[in-house]
Amino acid sequence: MKKSKPWSTRFAKPPNEKLAQFNASVHFDKRLAEFDVAASVAHAQMLGARGIIPAKDAANIQRGLKDILKEIRNGAFHWQTEYEDVHFNIERRLIEKIGGAGKRLHTARSRNDQTAAALRLFLRAQTDHILDLIADARLALLELAEKHANTLAAGMTHMQTAQPVVFGHHLLAYDDMLQRDAGRFADCRKRLNLSPLGAGALAGVGFPIDRRRVAKTLGFDGLCQNSIDAVSDRDFAVEFAAAAALMTAHLSRFCEEIIVWCSQPFGCVSLDDSFCTGSSIMPQKKNPDAAELVRAKTGRTAGALTSLLMMIKGQPLAYNKDNQEDKEAVFDSADTAQNCLVIFAGMVRAMRVNTARMRELLDSGYPTATELADYLTAKGAAFKDAHAAVGALVRALSDSGKRLEDITLEELRRYAPQADKGALLALRPENAVRIRNHTGGTAPKEVRRQIARRKAALKKR
Ligand code: ARG
Repeated sequence: MKKSKPWSTRFAKPPNEKLAQFNASVHFDKRLAEFDVAASVAHAQMLGARGIIPAKDAANIQRGLKDILKEIRNGAFHWQTEYEDVHFNIERRLIEKIGGAGKRLHTARSRNDQTAAALRLFLRAQTDHILDLIADARLALLELAEKHANTLAAGMTHMQTAQPVVFGHHLLAYDDMLQRDAGRFADCRKRLNLSPLGAGALAGVGFPIDRRRVAKTLGFDGLCQNSIDAVSDRDFAVEFAAAAALMTAHLSRFCEEIIVWCSQPFGCVSLDDSFCTGSSIMPQKKNPDAAELVRAKTGRTAGALTSLLMMIKGQPLAYNKDNQEDKEAVFDSADTAQNCLVIFAGMVRAMRVNTARMRELLDSGYPTATELADYLTAKGAAFKDAHAAVGALVRALSDSGKRLEDITLEELRRYAPQADKGALLALRPENAVRIRNHTGGTAPKEVRRQIARRKAALKKR
């Protein structure tokens, strides 16, 4: 006997073979099974409690669905392309198992509100997991920052040595980014954790349903307030993908720095062997593949975001099959975000910093030139004149291969006659960082204060 679809009686012919393949989504949306079953159980409970279907049937449906969930979990469930998607596959199996009662589950429901509910529940679980992973990655950064609250490093602009910072301060910049990323996921969660169930196909349903009860059972914070929007809205998927794309872009920035730092010319960081790979031809190689892969993954997450935006664009209200394209983008975005966070945290924990080399790189870049100009300004020079004097001094030093800290007071006075012993102190990077002891500054004291505050907040979450 030919397998028939739940909608096949309206049709004189079965679908074209190629279309059946093209239309099917079960090979990827079966990943929503747990959430689809949970939503169906809640729906059946409500139908029974409201007397919309007989209580006995509601109980059978719930029992049947629980058995089906077991089959899915132990791999015994037979997914079939002929039944299009996760929803029809599960419904078909329910009817096969419990007979007539199974046919009552789809009362007061459409696949349109059903699929939106399953996707929202899936993304809520993913968001919660991502929030945990971000917290763990932040902890890894904060622990490394604590170790290096005194380690002097070159703060860069244009990838050129700019001013001294402590390395812990540099790491805290990434902690700021991840903190904002967590905020974006948490904010997206507010809008995605609303129940679309009860919207039916688009117009709501004519049965005396209890939307609140179903929402409460499923842990939704509230209800979608317009049935037409409820079945067509995928903003929550776009927001999730946007948060994932931006977060992976941040991880990519950090990984780019790691790759540069562990290159031989820099050599100020070394990655643990367990986070590197070798070469098939060059025996000496230890390549930062983990960091390179994380750097590249932003392409995928940004691609998923673009797919979702393009999917929404141009869709008239309400539900359209375009929306089936949301799944693969969202799955890839969620998986990629999580994989990147796990690798990132592991890499940061296993990273070693060569503090002496960091200092060497710092000193070679005239990092306290600004400090000297500031000092001369404080002594009465106009800043423009001080800037010009120090610029000329740096040019002379770079011609002779000397560092700023190597000069004597006599040499300095040739460029800045008003310089005194204090000017030599101003040239020390330790002083430059120490005096930046304001909120957000690079003083070791401030960096430690920031770390303590952030760690305490993470512990409380
Ligand atoms: N698999 C579909 C999706 O992902 C389920 C909804 C189908 N609804 C419909 N009216 N064809 O969107």
